[in-house]
Amino acid sequence: MGDIISFVGQKGGTGKSTLARAFAVEAARRDQGVVIADLDEAQRTSWDWGQRRSANGLQPAIAVERVPRLQVFTRAADIDLLVVDAPGWADASTLWLAQGSQLTVLPTGGTVDDLNPTIRLMHELMNKGIADWRLGLALCRIHTDAQAEFARTYLRQANYKALKGELRERKSLADLQNVGQAVTEGSATTSREAIDLIGSITAALERARKKTAQEREQGTPARLVPSKERGGREDGR
Ligand SMILES: Nc1ncnc2c1ncn2[C@@H]1O[C@H](COP(=O)(O)OP(=O)(O)OP(=O)(O)O)[C@@H](O)[C@H]1O
Ligand SMILES: [Mg+2]
Repeated sequence: MGDIISFVGQKGGTGKSTLARAFAVEAARRDQGVVIADLDEAQRTSWDWGQRRSANGLQPAIAVERVPRLQVFTRAADIDLLVVDAPGWADASTLWLAQGSQLTVLPTGGTVDDLNPTIRLMHELMNKGIADWRLGLALCRIHTDAQAEFARTYLRQANYKALKGELRERKSLADLQNVGQAVTEGSATTSREAIDLIGSITAALERARKKTAQEREQGTPARLVPSKERGGREDGR
């Protein structure tokens, strides 16, 4: 089974789809067989973006599929990397997803409105046994340096450390996505911060892979194997 990296959140509009697409593009550039699984059947943000990308003939081509939540692990079976773009809410199936993902990224905006639900979801996932090294906090849609600093301090007070780099709120980044590009595919100036943040997520995934391998060697598998039954109800209970 390939690796799964999931982008999840308790709140809508924080940057899950944006980061999932950029992560997939950068992984595909490194020659990894990547598929984005868009779990939001109603919204289809990543799937639509995939259509725009392919209509514009952009390379690398990225496969985006609409995957029902409960089929995520089956879909990951025969590819290198499945990038999961989860919907804009969290429920019990979020835990199930995190249990089966090598890394779970929680993008968050820099306001207290965005940070509080993110912190609560982090608490919840960790209380349910997800190791901290399998979770990453990514600052997105940040307006100023001061806001980035505020968000990092706020998270630190809750004992969490955000990943290095942050995605700035910029029209130029929105414009890239409008035509099927990822936020890492703009000019050096436009995309520098996005590239840094995706680099941090890539490093976090690599660390998680190593830790998982170590724990396997020591006979204490890091990953719980999610069972279909556990996530078997659509309401996730
Ligand atoms: N850094 C940015 N600068 C400008 N616009 C952005 C940026 N990041 C995201 N956007 C835009 O903000 C909106 C929300 O972003 P995105 O779709 O990535 O969030 P999401 O967490 O996936 O939302 P949902 O919870 O609805 O799935 C989109 O219109 C996206 O194009
Ligand atoms: Mg989305």
